[in-house]
Amino acid sequence: MLIDTYGRVATDLRVSLTDRCNLRCTYCMPEEGLQWLAKPDLLTDDEIVRLIRIAVTSLGIEEVRFTGGEPLLRPGLVGIVERCAALAPRPKMSLTTNGIGLKRTAKALKEAGLDRVNVSLDTLRPDVFKTLTRRDRHHDVLEGLEAARDAGLTPVKVNTVLMPGLNDDEAPDLLAWAVENDYELRFIEQMPLDAQHGWKRDGMITAGDILTSLRTRFELTEEGSEQRGSAPAERWLVDGGPHRVGVIASVTRPFCSACDRTRLTADGQVRTCLFATEETDLRVALRAEDSADEEIARIWKLAMWGKKAGSGLDDPSFLQPERPMSAIGG
Ligand code: 5AD
Ligand code: SF4
Repeated sequence: MLIDTYGRVATDLRVSLTDRCNLRCTYCMPEEGLQWLAKPDLLTDDEIVRLIRIAVTSLGIEEVRFTGGEPLLRPGLVGIVERCAALAPRPKMSLTTNGIGLKRTAKALKEAGLDRVNVSLDTLRPDVFKTLTRRDRHHDVLEGLEAARDAGLTPVKVNTVLMPGLNDDEAPDLLAWAVENDYELRFIEQMPLDAQHGWKRDGMITAGDILTSLRTRFELTEEGSEQRGSAPAERWLVDGGPHRVGVIASVTRPFCSACDRTRLTADGQVRTCLFATEETDLRVALRAEDSADEEIARIWKLAMWGKKAGSGLDDPSFLQPERPMSAIGG
């Protein structure tokens, strides 16, 4: 098991498959992009599958989420999913994507064994999309979403970040659209994980703001906490249900004490938290001549044991992690 000194057990593994992306969301990356990881530093498909196998068979991981950057940019994605689906016990598998290219790959991903997708979409307005992501690809995302739903990668969840002055007036429109299209909408509070360090607590759109805005048009009933479990999203039934909306309040209502995650970066580092300032290298052990699964599992467990109690966001000495979100995996 992966367990830490606070008794939390990690059962959810997030695997970043690439740090590259074809969008440039302002809350994530600068316009010019970033210095991407060098090819030799990236784990190969075989190395990724090996780590996931160790996590699933020896460390108690039950659920694997593939992230990026943009994971659909990884050429071997479908093969990785297929090989993970053949593991025993078979992990639940989902993908967090910006949706571009999903139209082309949704069916193959489903056939390979992917269970679900989370698609990031912050606005229903193409012009606002272009301002927020610096790319004119709104239509591709909508098509990707439909393809995912049609392929049965359900429930399709939509992740939305509201940015002051850009799309913060869209919450009710987005929810009406999600209900109509059978997507489950989840708002994520903007976190200090952008490469440009532009995050400010003042002015950020909080969970409270989002709920107030939604309640101008919908009746929201909170789900019991037993249903929430370790899921970061607090969920509300929309107009009596069955449709739900979620809010992930990482900043104003952190859920660190119930965290069940461990993360793997595309270059083979374990991170115990999005906000961790330390990482533990698995790549050296993976590539060692006498590389043994037991040794890798031992290092991973040790990393988990060092997991901090919380994100430290509220600490006056909080320092943003060196890696931006795109290189950690959402
Ligand atoms: N704050 C909150 N959410 C973010 N995401 C990317 N950067 C940030 C940030 N700074 C979201 C993306 C995607 C998910 C992986 O995380 O929109 O939905
Ligand atoms: Fe790409 Fe996601 Fe970052 Fe947007 S938030 S630039 S889609 S990695």
